[in-house]
Amino acid sequence: MAQWLIQNGHLIDPANGLDDVMDIRVVDGKVVNVAKSLKAEDADEIVDANGLIVSPGFIDIHCHLREPGQEAKEDLFTGTASAAAGGFTTILTMANTRPVIDQAIIVAGMKHKIQTDSVVRVEITGAVTKGLEGKELAEIGDMAQAGIRAISDDGNYVSDGRLMRAALEYASMFDIPVISHSEDCCLVADGVMHEGCVSAKLGLRGRPAEAENIAVARELMLAEMTGAHIHIAHVSSKGAVELIRAAKAKGIKVTAEVTPHHLCLVDKTIESFDSAFKVNPPLRTNEHIVALLEGLKDGTLDAIATDHAPHAYEEKDCEFNEAPCGFAGFETAFSVLHSRFVQSGEWSLQELIQKMTAGPAAAFNWQDRGHLSEGGLADLVLIDPKKEWIVDPSTMLTRGKSCPFTGMEMVGQVVRTMVNGKWVYQNGKIFRD
Ligand code: DOR
Repeated sequence: MAQWLIQNGHLIDPANGLDDVMDIRVVDGKVVNVAKSLKAEDADEIVDANGLIVSPGFIDIHCHLREPGQEAKEDLFTGTASAAAGGFTTILTMANTRPVIDQAIIVAGMKHKIQTDSVVRVEITGAVTKGLEGKELAEIGDMAQAGIRAISDDGNYVSDGRLMRAALEYASMFDIPVISHSEDCCLVADGVMHEGCVSAKLGLRGRPAEAENIAVARELMLAEMTGAHIHIAHVSSKGAVELIRAAKAKGIKVTAEVTPHHLCLVDKTIESFDSAFKVNPPLRTNEHIVALLEGLKDGTLDAIATDHAPHAYEEKDCEFNEAPCGFAGFETAFSVLHSRFVQSGEWSLQELIQKMTAGPAAAFNWQDRGHLSEGGLADLVLIDPKKEWIVDPSTMLTRGKSCPFTGMEMVGQVVRTMVNGKWVYQNGKIFRD
């Protein structure tokens, strides 16, 4: 297998406390040395990373690849190519496919297809309930034995508290987290955006922040009762941050993620009636963003996750009320946050990289990911922190061309991605065996 020497890059590896110009030698899919001034030895290629950031590959613990069944939106190849372009080397795909991933046989089929079609590591989430219908538990034990890394009905809240309790109990037997899409179904009803002044002005039905707060509160109480690990997906409300902070202080086993769109965009954008801004939970207000940022800073929120949720262009190209929720997220995640928070000096680059590498790895106890340690996996990314570019979905590798950051000017971009010691992405191109 190939041997690479990556020289003179600025290595940022928060898990190992590294933040310095260093060289990395990769042999047979493993990081062999991380040190200053390594010799070329038998390297097949010496990569001059002068002026570039070298980071552990990003980990996305929340995305939708749409396979099986909805390949018009995305498939394993287009989804993982898009992930590689965004610097993600491990992603966790959700169960709301067609058929739903609710049986071990479907997990086995997915694993097989992942081996042939994926360019990054894909981990699988199984459903909590059969068909995501919220009525009967899915084959949690069998799916755990088949290799799922979490369970979730993401897209839906599991309204039946008794079922959720049982799911938490089962999941803890297999040492996997339960990921909760926390929005009380009755309170959100058929709302299409955050409930507030803007929804009132536009005459659009609202989804109140309280729907999220109430749903999160139940999950935290059930996690305390069962001792199981609850992970709160795409936290978007101030109240949810406060509840999770208090639960962590009490020792409840809870982790949580936040998305780039909930950190950067507000409900006011919907005055354009552009369905690219339609997502669940909805974009909220500045008051909520301030709380999310505080939650990230103090560790209440462990990770940044994309919730990459591609839809076919024709599906999104309709009236706001009718459009499906969600949009592409892999290829903009790092750049959006770098441009908005690192360039402005509000975050250090180390803080951003921590929340995209060591943070998600620690949240799900994936000890072999999220760091560049000697002897560890060679999953890494090269970033040009000065590269200026404009978001243009037509050049993206995802099939989901709807993106709320379209037309925005970015500073900083992933230029090269390595998975298991192989370069899978470089400057717009994918490489596969
Ligand atoms: O906006 C969303 N879209 N939120 C979700 O939770 C699900 C996702 C999807 O699958 O499209």
